[in-house]
Amino acid sequence: MSQLAAGPAARAALSGPRGSGRLDRDWVPVLAGVPLFGELSRRHLKHVASLAKTRRYTAGTSIVRAGTAGTAFYVILDGAARVVTPKGRPRRLKAGQFFGEMALLDDSPRSADVVADGEVLTLTIGRSAFAKLLKSEPAIAHALLRTLAARVRDAETSA
Ligand code: CMP
Repeated sequence: MSQLAAGPAARAALSGPRGSGRLDRDWVPVLAGVPLFGELSRRHLKHVASLAKTRRYTAGTSIVRAGTAGTAFYVILDGAARVVTPKGRPRRLKAGQFFGEMALLDDSPRSADVVADGEVLTLTIGRSAFAKLLKSEPAIAHALLRTLAARVRDAETSA
């Protein structure tokens, strides 16, 4: 299972209770290892933690279904997920990578299925909190755009 580099507090948080939960300060070192949040100060990481919840999925669970409305944004904290688009090859996303941003950004249906590739732990942020976060944290918006640009290039080369 792919896991973010984590100190003792973060490891305890990663292996904590199963199911959904709120993120407390123990999660700040875990969030600091997520590239999307890499430029944020500890104070700003705490802000992200205050908006987020964790969710665990068992292997093979459909996390996001193509064609449905988007209600949340996801960052993989532990494990991996498979993105299956209507065209092109499937992609594997690992710990530290994110998905579910597209439907929230353009208010259109989900573009792909995302399935748990083994057991997965995600951070989730709801639609309206995600919109506010992008406005209040330009560093996150910038990092997200950089990844989107890379994904467009990747999709173009595999089309
Ligand atoms: P969204 O459309 O909200 O839901 C499905 C998600 O899969 C999408 O957001 C992206 O996060 C992700 N996704 C779609 N296409 C690709 C791709 N080519 N590479 C990586 N991730 C993708």
